Amino acid sequence: MEEIMKVGVLTSGGDAPGMNAAIRAVVRAGLHRNMEVYGIRRGYQGMIDGDIIKLDSVSVSGIIHQGGTILQTARCKEFTTYEGRKKAYENLCAFGINAVIVIGGDGSFTGAGIMSKEFNIPFIGIPGTIDNDLYGTDYTIGFDTALNTVVNAVDKIRDTASSHGRIFFVEVMGKEAGFVALQSGIACGAEGILIPEEKGQIEKLMNYLTIRAKQKKSSIIMVAEGEDEGGAISIANKIKERFPEYDIRTTILGHIQRGGTPSALDRICASRMGVAAIEALIDDQKSIMIGMVNNEVVHVPLNKTVKLDKDVDRDLLGIADMLV
Ligand code: F6P
Repeated sequence: MEEIMKVGVLTSGGDAPGMNAAIRAVVRAGLHRNMEVYGIRRGYQGMIDGDIIKLDSVSVSGIIHQGGTILQTARCKEFTTYEGRKKAYENLCAFGINAVIVIGGDGSFTGAGIMSKEFNIPFIGIPGTIDNDLYGTDYTIGFDTALNTVVNAVDKIRDTASSHGRIFFVEVMGKEAGFVALQSGIACGAEGILIPEEKGQIEKLMNYLTIRAKQKKSSIIMVAEGEDEGGAISIANKIKERFPEYDIRTTILGHIQRGGTPSALDRICASRMGVAAIEALIDDQKSIMIGMVNNEVVHVPLNKTVKLDKDVDRDLLGIADMLV
């Protein structure tokens, strides 16, 4: 008799809107394929602690529209050690779990790749992070919602900036990457965008402040948290010294970018990826990430997505510069 596939699903790293839609898709697609699906709570920490529950179709009812993750999440140090992973493996064995689907970012996939090799257990990754910084996929779950959150917030800041004739430096998340800053910057009509992937943006900003800023009612300068000058506060301070005539303010948007109702795009993306992860297990895939390229589902080896860096779209940088 063929062994029933028992799949564990977990969310790991920073939460992202749409993770619940992905969990729902994994559970329902798994049941559709006669699998048993287990929820592992608090990411790898729950795997180590044996915090595991069987999920059925009803357990994932009414969650597609909720931000955060019903399974909760964690950044787990213990999982970076062999001892931690061994404990985790023993718990998987105790529940009979013979495949794992991890919804998370590059840190989560690094752990998945290592454990998959060490204990010969299939791990399928679903990219879930607002940063959109994973190689091999155009989209990560949560990015679109985070972008819209930033755009809504900055539109409001723009009202104050215009009313007072101010320059606002707005810092957005993205870890070491500038995807959120670049795309939200374009959507908000930002006058400057500072991201780690592109050098020389500060000189462009200086040129802008020397002449053009004086002719404008307001300016928004979008700063990625990982850019080289030390973040929005530090840049704003330098600019204040150099241009004391400007009325300058700084806003750090912070964790509002991580929460909230997932957008339709994130829900659809998460649903497609969740189903694709189950299909990948049926196809006997062992250690891959599900990606989305040109709106098609693709498989990317986990070791490739964690090793390679995804670059920002250089055309978008050109567009941002041209439209200031
Ligand atoms: O990876 C998502 C992210 O929100 C990054 O953009 C940010 O640098 C980091 O997580 C913040 O992590 P934490 O919520 O653990 O402070």
